[in-house]
Amino acid sequence: MSTLAQQLTDLVQRAANSAGHADAPIPIEPCVATNDPRHGDYQSNYAFRLGKALRTNPRAVAQAMVDALPANDLVAGVEVAGPGFINFRLADEALAADVLERIASPTLGAPQTGSGRSMVIDYSSPNIAKRMHVGHLRSTIIGAAIDRMHRFLGWSVVADNHIGDWGTQFGMLIVAWHRWRDEDAFAEDAIAELQRIYRLFREKAKEDESLEDLARAETAKLQAGDAENLALWERFIAVSMTEFEAVYTRLGVSFDVVHGESHYRDGLQELITKLLDDGIASINDGAAIIEFTSDEGKGLGNSPLLVRKSDGAALYGTTDLATIKARMETWNPETIVYVTDQRQQLHFQQVFAAGRRMGFTTPEYVHVWFGMVRNADGSIMASRKDGSSVTLVGLLDEARDKARSVVDKKSPELPEAERAIIAEAVGVGSIAYNDLSQNPQSDVTFDWERMLSLEGNTAPYLLYAHARCHSLFRKAGVTDFEPGGLVLGHPTERTLALIVARTPEVIAQSAATWRANMLCDHLYSLASAFASFYTECPVLKDDVDEATRQSRLTLTHATAVALATGLRLIGLEPLERM
Ligand code: ARG
Repeated sequence: MSTLAQQLTDLVQRAANSAGHADAPIPIEPCVATNDPRHGDYQSNYAFRLGKALRTNPRAVAQAMVDALPANDLVAGVEVAGPGFINFRLADEALAADVLERIASPTLGAPQTGSGRSMVIDYSSPNIAKRMHVGHLRSTIIGAAIDRMHRFLGWSVVADNHIGDWGTQFGMLIVAWHRWRDEDAFAEDAIAELQRIYRLFREKAKEDESLEDLARAETAKLQAGDAENLALWERFIAVSMTEFEAVYTRLGVSFDVVHGESHYRDGLQELITKLLDDGIASINDGAAIIEFTSDEGKGLGNSPLLVRKSDGAALYGTTDLATIKARMETWNPETIVYVTDQRQQLHFQQVFAAGRRMGFTTPEYVHVWFGMVRNADGSIMASRKDGSSVTLVGLLDEARDKARSVVDKKSPELPEAERAIIAEAVGVGSIAYNDLSQNPQSDVTFDWERMLSLEGNTAPYLLYAHARCHSLFRKAGVTDFEPGGLVLGHPTERTLALIVARTPEVIAQSAATWRANMLCDHLYSLASAFASFYTECPVLKDDVDEATRQSRLTLTHATAVALATGLRLIGLEPLERM
């Protein structure tokens, strides 16, 4: 089914046609939800823009469209406002019917605009033998939300975890492993031990240059397929993936493919040769580079992409070009999305421009970048210098434990096992929500107290609103509820119903703008509207008649369905009790 905004936009289009604008010089503009209920529920700016384009009075254009509006059941009130805007107020009956129809659909009737379209999303992408850091956590949380929203809208999505599993650091690690490894420490915390010996290598190599030569030799052996080195390398990958997987499981994230950098290793030299042959790359001081013009991207004019060092080695960017080629040849996606922190903006501008040069001009290339993570005191949150970094699993545990003490205090009567489940959902959910509810491009602050607060735009607040819907049904003793008989008698009910009905519209906008925070804001309005409804519109009181109770239970149910749908999309597990 189409969204309310779309239904109204269709009416405006028909009105415009009847008013003599079938061949208008500008295309129709979608109706948008108003911020202020005094301006109705939705607004159209089309007449205003059309009036300007036609150099006639926009108000007159708007009035003519209003007069030509086809008969329909959706609109109860329409007026021309300001310099030529059209404000719509929906009919209560139509709104109620819309809500009922939506909540019966697993996608809330979201238009499947992605059907037949495909997208590759490259996210998380941590590096082997290193701790996954908070930047990768953000990439995972943001990437997964984008991923789920697009699948929800019918896109076919390939989630690709482009792990950093190839490069000269593996030669160093192999040398370090043979000399300094501590098997017990490795068994205890493999990544910590790999980080320790890697750092040790770096230190010793400052004094002893022969170490670098040894490392180069081990890297070359690995690249040539030496069995022993390959086995070690695979072991490093395996222990790293085990730790990454633990984080993914906690976050409810999974990938379709994990094609790390190593996946492309065999084609790199051939690719470089072809880039040179095709005149895309050129030799500069023994290195191969791709130079761009400023037309290909702002700031690219004097920032060439290095694709081969003078010693012959390929680089991170070379792999990214091979990756574009492979993705195009395998999936031919309409869109390729990369989710990393802000520091890689130039890198991806270069890679996208080079991808186009290579002839892959059809996909839309998108770099979704995000800011840094800060502690409540403003300091940057990152791994500590000594390597005893905040592990992400440790961070998730901390969140869970903090949530647990809140749950123990608030709901001591719940069984222990259930409190554990709630604490996990609230703790992990708080981390995800803290990240997603802010503008991705600004730094996020890790302020436990605020993140875990039951008030404000937080995960606990939303999860609590959802649990409260279910508690109403428990109190009413209703199981197997049949929604129906929704009547929007009270203004608070109407506001709540409108927010429920808009949910798929917001999901579509959120997906299209790569910003889950729009959906978060919407869910927060939904939860807040439910809180008002809960105080102002009694459901179970004795003096509430049967029809009103049924209607209000239906609205409660609808709220729960919309909340649960939205929460799952952003990676939160809706709870029935808290
Ligand atoms: N491994 C990289 C890092 O940790 C991120 C990779 C992002 N994806 C890509 N195709 N370059 O910074």
